[in-house]
Amino acid sequence: INIISPMGRPELFDFEGISMTHYFTDNWENIQKFQARPDDILITTYPKSGTTWVSYILDLLYFGNTAPERQTSLPIFFRVPFLEGTFPGLPSGVEQTDKLPTTPRLIKTHLPVQLLPKSFWEQNCRVVYVARNAKDNAVSYFHFDRMNMGDPEPGDWNTFLKRFMDGKMVFGPWYDHVCGYWEKKQTYSNIHYMFFEDMVEDTGHEVERLCSFLGLSTPIEERERITKGTHFDAMKQNNMTNYSTLPIMDFKVSPFMRKGKVGDWKNHFTVAQNEQFNEHYKQKMKNSTLRFRTEI
Ligand code: A3P
Repeated sequence: INIISPMGRPELFDFEGISMTHYFTDNWENIQKFQARPDDILITTYPKSGTTWVSYILDLLYFGNTAPERQTSLPIFFRVPFLEGTFPGLPSGVEQTDKLPTTPRLIKTHLPVQLLPKSFWEQNCRVVYVARNAKDNAVSYFHFDRMNMGDPEPGDWNTFLKRFMDGKMVFGPWYDHVCGYWEKKQTYSNIHYMFFEDMVEDTGHEVERLCSFLGLSTPIEERERITKGTHFDAMKQNNMTNYSTLPIMDFKVSPFMRKGKVGDWKNHFTVAQNEQFNEHYKQKMKNSTLRFRTEI
């Protein structure tokens, strides 16, 4: 498969108040009409906050023992379809999800809370939200956009950081995304809100909490196996989880599994950028009770 468009990188445009590219809006009618099932599990994130990591953990928890061939032959992005993804030469995310042979279906989305297909709420689906501190999230997104031809050009770091602060990113502002799902938790209890920083600090504990949210009684030995198998180094080596099979990405520019650290922002933000960012962040987040750690 080669899905790099001969037209080059896509344009960013406003879509219902959110910056988007056509790759995520071309199939909009079918996305909105999507029929969720009560046992579907939705992995929802702002891009670059640990989506692949949590997807892989969930895949192993549900299918690690029952379908071993899945682990060696099917890349994670086919096991866990990207609902709104509509890339030329590939079945749409909706079609892939509709064809999933396994139960429960694990589904990935980056849609902000207000754009999520209603059916997920109506069916009371379990939603796993992963959030990552804004500074590391911005750095990771910057390197991703350098190597991922499916997103607009990032420009230089300073330009990109300004755009991030303005929320002119594919899938909109980080601030509204993380706060939107955080607030949704008040009225919709089937959301498990996780933090990338907690995952890095103590993966085993986060796997245990996930199991308890999902009602899984996975034995400790297996949880430990999963914790080890989903370690950064293991996932970076594993061609089924490191995205090396997706030609839209240029690994010569930057790998998908890049660093996997908390605090890499310190290698990117200048003192002035950091001060401006902190000031702006305080304003954007002043009405939220959500707290992030930028170091561990
Ligand atoms: P970095 O660019 O900071 O390295 P997503 O899957 O949402 O696109 O997120 C990708 C980010 O998660 C990348 O961050 C990637 O390295 C990191 N990541 C993926 N798997 C990881 C793991 N097992 N441990 C730590 N970080 C991981």
